[in-house]
Amino acid sequence: MESIKEFKKGMDFTAKTFAGLEDALAAELTELGADDVKVIKRGATFRGDEALMYKVNYLSRLAVRILKPIGVFDVKDDNQLYDKVRKINWMDVFKLNQTFSVDANLFYSELDHSHYASLKTKDAIVDQFREATGKRPWVNVENPDIYVDVHISHNVCTISLDSSGESLHRRGYRIVADKAPINEVLAAGMINLAGWKGDSDFYDPMCGSGTIPMEAAMLAMNIPAAYYREKFAFMNWEGYNEELWKKVKEEANDLMGETDCRIFASDRSDKAVAFAKRNLKHAGLHKDIEIKVAYFDSVKPENGGMLIMNPPYGIRMEERGELRDLYKGIGNVLKQNFAGCEAWVISPNFDTAKFIGLRPSKKITLYNGPVETRFLKFEVYEGTKRYGDNPDEKSFSREKREFRKKDDSRGSDGPRRESSKRDYKSGRDESRDSRDNRSEGRIRDLDKDKETNQGSRDGRHEGRRRDYDERRGDSDSENRREVIEKRSKDFDRHMESLRRFTKSDTKRPVKRKPGGRKRISGKDSSKEDKNNDAVKD
Ligand SMILES: C[S@@+](CC[C@H](N)C(=O)[O-])C[C@H]1O[C@@H](n2cnc3c(N)ncnc32)[C@H](O)[C@@H]1O
Repeated sequence: MESIKEFKKGMDFTAKTFAGLEDALAAELTELGADDVKVIKRGATFRGDEALMYKVNYLSRLAVRILKPIGVFDVKDDNQLYDKVRKINWMDVFKLNQTFSVDANLFYSELDHSHYASLKTKDAIVDQFREATGKRPWVNVENPDIYVDVHISHNVCTISLDSSGESLHRRGYRIVADKAPINEVLAAGMINLAGWKGDSDFYDPMCGSGTIPMEAAMLAMNIPAAYYREKFAFMNWEGYNEELWKKVKEEANDLMGETDCRIFASDRSDKAVAFAKRNLKHAGLHKDIEIKVAYFDSVKPENGGMLIMNPPYGIRMEERGELRDLYKGIGNVLKQNFAGCEAWVISPNFDTAKFIGLRPSKKITLYNGPVETRFLKFEVYEGTKRYGDNPDEKSFSREKREFRKKDDSRGSDGPRRESSKRDYKSGRDESRDSRDNRSEGRIRDLDKDKETNQGSRDGRHEGRRRDYDERRGDSDSENRREVIEKRSKDFDRHMESLRRFTKSDTKRPVKRKPGGRKRISGKDSSKEDKNNDAVKD
């Protein structure tokens, strides 16, 4: 029999992560004291002792799981897999009364069904126990004691024990989640790649259930990634050293501290913010993160800082147009409110990101599960220039100005717009319904846009328009009116789709009656975990 003791001597490990985070993970492992760290696809291998295995499980923000290989062999078919798995001494690994599960992944292998490879591995383990004891250990897919990992690549099979068990993204702090929560490891990875270390104010103005700001707060205060988590698979292993585990934890916990930086989280959805608050309270971080219901365009940093945001993805085709409007809005707000900040946006593909209209100074490809994303850096400063994705979009602000001029002069739907403007400026009239508030927000955007365009920064636009007018001459005025009318219609369509988009799932904050309470219906954490699995490792 191949004994696992041979492998224990070496103490090789594999840490798995998301594609795009491998180098950051390798650097993190080195910092945690790992030796011989090597980057591999979606992970890194390293060497270390048992204490390091505990430490990496407890502290790594970027690893999804830590595997400990116990057998490596060539394999060409299912029968060979069965025979070679059976040669590993499984009774050194776990006891008859413990449950286990097998997870197989195949890459470039002559075996073609990962499910069948799992079954063969399970059979080999069960048969070995049965032959030796007359009894068999049971499989438990949901909550096993022992997690066996089978990785076959180019016909080389590595059998590992998964020391983490449940994926390490399950930090234990998120008890409820609104739509599309980002994976915790990905959120930590984004903060890491952005280079934020708790040294400036931090903003997530589309915070949803609060994952990104919570990861930021934990990083800033040195709270171990798995501080809120209680279970790891290694605790069920033969020879688990509880004293050593406690020592590793205590040493890490002693390094926790406070932070001087301020962390701001907001979202337009009161439901999302309510969920985020519950998560913050659960984690005891409610005093460390300043959270409120707010539209992105009302967030304005006072002291610069870092912004990391995860806007809606909108993968469905019919959402594309609406997403384009949303991302254009993001570009405008970054330019107007976030001068002096470093902004990072994760978005589903580069086309969408282009609508932001600002030139990214860095583009990183990251995978959110199967979804390829771009993590884009924008350094926003006074006078940041837009770049257009097509000539029409370049002149979009001008169109708006022309549209508004025309609109003002002919007075069509003027009163509604005027009163919205007044309401916004006085900051009163909360009796309006949320729909009006939304259009008010959009009108406010237009006003800002108009102001911006009239400012010195955009003097070049005015210059361009003068040139344009002179070139065309008066004889073209008829033509021009038609163009403007067409643009006005386009702009109406643009506004309508923006209204539809913002109407979809959220409301402007409404003022509650004193003592009034709103029921919050949350998912239970197990449900949330399952949802989250769709984008997990
Ligand atoms: C993909 S979710 C963010 C998920 C979040 N990172 C998490 O882990 O839970 C996108 C969020 O953007 C919010 N959002 C969309 N448009 C917004 C706007 N204009 N202002 C503020 N929040 C907005 C949505 O309400 C939603 O919660």
